[in-house]
Amino acid sequence: MVFELNEEQLAVQAAARDFAQQELKQGVIERDSKMQFPTEHIKAMGELGFLGMMVSPEYGGGGMDTISYVLAMEEISKVDNSCSVCMSVNNSLVCWGLETFGSADQKDKYLTKLATGEWIGAFCLSEPEAGSDATSQRTTAIDMGDHYLLNGTKNWITNGGTSSVHLVIAQTDKEKGHRGINALIVETSWDGVVVGAKEDKLGIRSSDTHTIMYNDVKVPKENRIGEDGFGFKFAMKVLSGGRIGIAAQALGIAGGAYELAVAYSNERKAFGKPINQHQAIAFKIADMATEIEAAKLMVYRAAYLKDKHLNYDAASAMAKVFASDVAMRHTVEAVQIHGGYGFVKEYHVERLMRDAKITQIYEGTSEIQRIVISREILRNNNLYLPTLPLDMAKV
Ligand code: CAA
Repeated sequence: MVFELNEEQLAVQAAARDFAQQELKQGVIERDSKMQFPTEHIKAMGELGFLGMMVSPEYGGGGMDTISYVLAMEEISKVDNSCSVCMSVNNSLVCWGLETFGSADQKDKYLTKLATGEWIGAFCLSEPEAGSDATSQRTTAIDMGDHYLLNGTKNWITNGGTSSVHLVIAQTDKEKGHRGINALIVETSWDGVVVGAKEDKLGIRSSDTHTIMYNDVKVPKENRIGEDGFGFKFAMKVLSGGRIGIAAQALGIAGGAYELAVAYSNERKAFGKPINQHQAIAFKIADMATEIEAAKLMVYRAAYLKDKHLNYDAASAMAKVFASDVAMRHTVEAVQIHGGYGFVKEYHVERLMRDAKITQIYEGTSEIQRIVISREILRNNNLYLPTLPLDMAKV
């Protein structure tokens, strides 16, 4: 066995599973249909430490490794992906980005509140005309001496309506291309921050996705993350880790659908026996189990590489592209196994099928992941060998 989970990791997994099954499951269908943000549940997740799992205890976090975080993401995503995307953005984009690249003052001011869930964070990169092509930022952060003047529009912002802090990626010097981009910490209570309408989505419907407008927002210079011009690389580094979180979400969605399909196929009888005694269904279950197992190894491996401070850019992209395809494929199969019951909202599988789609899109589409993977292979003179034993996988 490649991965042996330690006692702490197993305890985190069990705690997340209990919380998801006992607290999140009830009401999840209604929240989804009403697009109702799970305010109380997110508050509880903050109190239980799920919103700042990898942040050091000095800043109120759990000081845990990425594998523990992935295990918790997986269990929560089996049940409620509006909660797990909020968790993923807050943990791996916002908190990790601030702790790794922020100044001591920025961490003192923002990180503890974000790690404990007192505040929720959002990561604001996507724009109406700059999605996959992230260097084409239209939002501007003009250098005014002691502050930046921020103007522009961001869209598809997770936690858009509920966040207190945004990490905003904006262009300061167009001439310099990606080297002219900065990452700024913006408090949503500041003048000029306007939250647009909530998106009415196919899946993760109770998560809080908004367009955000910045109209002449004054951002103090001390709120820039890193050196002048570091913003694009900041976004890339943060997203590389974020993709492990989304891969774990996809894994959880597939696992949740699988568990429901297996349970249903045990109970449901046709032609005088449980439907999983028919080969047509048994083979679907075998395929689901096999591919989920493969996705799990890829997701845990990406987390392992991050924990070992090895290059995980390709591993996280591979994990996301594979796990999100597994989630999509097998939630469709789970609905099929449920027959007509799979098609109604009373059963959870149709929701998981709708939720699966976004994992192939956000934090970089599957097409973007293939760009990242192929560039890593070429950058290493075609020497990226995924079959190397873990400890030799230094790239
Ligand atoms: N780490 C460090 N630096 C990196 C990097 C990484 N992982 N990836 C790229 N860079 C650097 C490059 O080395 C280069 O720097 P130099 O010129 O100094 O060498 C610079 O960044 C520009 O890189 P590229 O030339 O590769 O840039 P590109 O324009 O070709 O774009 C891309 C690369 C991978 C396609 C990138 O634009 C990308 O990732 N796009 C997708 C954006 C994305 O994921 N959006 C998701 C939105 S956030 C979200 O969904 C959150 C949510 O709310 C759920």
